[in-house]
Amino acid sequence: MSLEPTVMAFETSCDETAVAVVKGNVILSNVLASQIEIHAQFGGVVPEVAARAHVEAIRGLTHRALAEAGVHPDDLDGIAATQGPGLVGALLVGFEFAKATAWARQLPFVGIDHMEGHLMAPRLSFDEFAAPAVVLLASGGHSQVVHVKGWGQYDVLGQTIDDAAGEAFDKLARFMGLGFPGGPAIDAASEGGDPTAIKFPRPLGNQRYNVSFSGLKTSVVTFLEKAAASNTLPPLADVAASLQEAIVDVLVQRTFNAVEDTGVEMVGAGGGVIANRRLRQRLTEEADRRGVAICLPGPVLCTDNAAMIAAAGAQWLGEGMYTAFDAQVDSALRL
Ligand code: KG4
Ligand code: ZN
Repeated sequence: MSLEPTVMAFETSCDETAVAVVKGNVILSNVLASQIEIHAQFGGVVPEVAARAHVEAIRGLTHRALAEAGVHPDDLDGIAATQGPGLVGALLVGFEFAKATAWARQLPFVGIDHMEGHLMAPRLSFDEFAAPAVVLLASGGHSQVVHVKGWGQYDVLGQTIDDAAGEAFDKLARFMGLGFPGGPAIDAASEGGDPTAIKFPRPLGNQRYNVSFSGLKTSVVTFLEKAAASNTLPPLADVAASLQEAIVDVLVQRTFNAVEDTGVEMVGAGGGVIANRRLRQRLTEEADRRGVAICLPGPVLCTDNAAMIAAAGAQWLGEGMYTAFDAQVDSALRL
């Protein structure tokens, strides 16, 4: 197989049905059907509803992805799909559809760890992104600081001991009545706010890599309840900017602790929370200050997409690594 194979990939681990075609690290198409409007009415992702919506969307999206890429199925070198982690019913739709397509077309198939997809996303925009690197992964279900020693050689230095960063954004936004998903809502609400207005806690400050956000959540909720009771609620923008700053501070600090300790000169990031404007600004400033390179994928490649899964698929298929057709999804897969 070519070292830059043409790969079609499927991503259905949560609430986006996504299909993409890449050649090596070059995106030929990257299409997506978001279920945000369906789940917003419930205030969060309903697994059964997500799985059904994936079933409805996946065939049409596959045709669109091939048409936009200008690729005939005969020109594909392989198929990839997210194997886990994620919602089991949702994962099953993309994974089984991908296996069936690969079987029918007699193409090699590879199952991909969703977090490895996020970790490889910077490659789609930056030729220079290479190991060794420190990568910050921050999504709805995960917050991890990873020392990437090589592709497939991941040393997870730290992670959350309770809520993930995205989960903290989502829960706080729900409490504040800002809707779902919470990250973009808080990002928008923080516009013009003073990030130093309210000093929320930065938990586990004595740890180099692990993070914890559940205490922050309690602290914000307690603060808002007291302020409401005494009629001293500060402007929403100040609250949003201040709680966002607490999350951003912790993530930036842990990332650069890892840069310091490993001595690497390359920083990458992936996952929905990396779309956060303040986080992007602070990560970039800190990298510049230290003179290390930083590769932040654009927002569309931070949130869930299939191009990142295809990039990981191209890596492994290019190296001749396949997944057997009797493989199963694994909702608890770990890097
Ligand atoms: O990676 P992702 O799309 O899905 C998972 O793998 O979980 O991440 C979704 C998470 C959600 O918690 C969402 O609120 C958060 O990413 N997110 C953001 C922003 N955009 C999405 N968090 C903060 N600021 C944003 N702009
Ligand atoms: Zn994700």
